[in-house]
Parts: sequence; structure tokens; C-alpha cells
Amino acid sequence: MAAFNVNGKPVSVAAEPDTPLLWAIREHLKLTGTKFGCGAGLCGACTVHLNGEAVRSCQTALSDVEGALVTTIEGLSRDSSHPLQKAWVAEQVPQCGYCQSGQIMKAAELLRHNPSPSRDQIVDHMDGNICRCGTYVRIIAAIQRASREG
Ligand code: FES
Ligand code: FES
Repeated sequence: MAAFNVNGKPVSVAAEPDTPLLWAIREHLKLTGTKFGCGAGLCGACTVHLNGEAVRSCQTALSDVEGALVTTIEGLSRDSSHPLQKAWVAEQVPQCGYCQSGQIMKAAELLRHNPSPSRDQIVDHMDGNICRCGTYVRIIAAIQRASREG
């Protein structure tokens, strides 16, 4: 059993301590916006925030989140009003969409620490979040827009 907080609500999940946080989020808590991509820490589709920092939930054990604050894409804003979510719509970023919640959560970490990142800083920070559809140009444009308009 692990007790922690997800998107502002206390939760407890009955599962083995080495259960990936991703499974707890998707299977136990039914928050399916966070995606399973590779399951091996290689793609970023499963990115969530753990105490405000982006982590790969497929590589984060339940035992590591006891008492922690977890934010998933569903909790980034109440009504999809986060500057990144608005910019993602404005720039029509997604293609298949599968990688995109992970992309947004990774980008949100960047803007929290650096509200006006350079293009190089954006590329560097987002490196490792894979998009099989190749939407990288629009991802960068959306982050730049959110930075300007946020
Ligand atoms: S599913 Fe976690 S990094 Fe790919
Ligand atoms: S939009 Fe399809 S994988 Fe990124």
C-alpha cells in the first residue's frame, strides 16, 4: 500500500512496492492521459511530475512516491487553461497524440524553472521525449508561444 497525492487529492494504492507509478496511475486510479510507450525509460510518453519535477512514471516505483505530490496531465490545470495546453491547441501540435501528454508535462517543467527559454534550451530540455509522428517543430513552436503568452 502506498499513500500519496495525485492532482491535489490524497490516494492510496494497494500494490507491490516495486509496481511502476505508471501502472498505479493508469490501472488503479484510471487516469489514462499518461501513456505507456516503451516501459523502459526511453521515450517520455509516461512523464508526470513528482514533487514538481518531471519523471518517467514507468521507471518510478510506488515505494518512491509515498507521501509525495504527483501531477498528471489531468491535473496540470482545471480546465485545460495552462499556457502550454492553449499553445498546443493554437499550434495544432498533435498528430496521433500518443506522446503529447508526456511532451506537455516535460515542457511544463521547463517553463516553471525558466519562463523564457531560448530555442536551444527548449531543444535541450525536450531531448529524449520521443515523437514517432515527428511533431518536434510544432512542439518547439508551442513552447515558444506559451512562453510569450503565458
Ligand atoms: S513509457 Fe516510460 S519512458 Fe517510455
Ligand atoms: S503525435 Fe504521434 S507520437 Fe507524437
